[in-house]
Amino acid sequence: GTVFVLNGPNLNLLGTREPEVYGSATLEDVRALAEARAASHGLTVDVRQSNHEGVLIDWIHEAREAAVGIVLNPGGYTHTSVAIRDALAAVDVPAVEVHLSNVHAREQFRRHSYLSPVVDAVIAGAGVHGYEYALEHIARLAGRRA
Ligand code: DQA
Repeated sequence: GTVFVLNGPNLNLLGTREPEVYGSATLEDVRALAEARAASHGLTVDVRQSNHEGVLIDWIHEAREAAVGIVLNPGGYTHTSVAIRDALAAVDVPAVEVHLSNVHAREQFRRHSYLSPVVDAVIAGAGVHGYEYALEHIARLAGRRA
């Protein structure tokens, strides 16, 4: 099975973007970590990034047919997007919301997520390792064993 690892706006800049907040690892580093962790569960990953809300929504719809789970870092859309929430609610695929930073230790506006009520789990503040933990959980939900 394939897990979609979907990344929202500005995450293409990971590694150079506010490194004091998001660390120095790049999205390519995330890809390598995710591939290795998925492989340990007999899964593959499809790691994607878009700065566009509608593209992320199209990918969530695509996951209905093409993925056993979704790992999603929605970036700033976390705090604004009713439409991404509705897309997640519409698909019956296990989903984990990931944030590199601890969104609860930052500005007040980052403490509310439109998406958290419709995902299976939320991981925040573990940096790039959050993606690995999310894949562990997806593997569990997908009924796989290492
Ligand atoms: C983020 C947290 C969001 O608040 C922010 O807008 C991002 C990244 C994170 O990974 O910590 O773009 O999702």
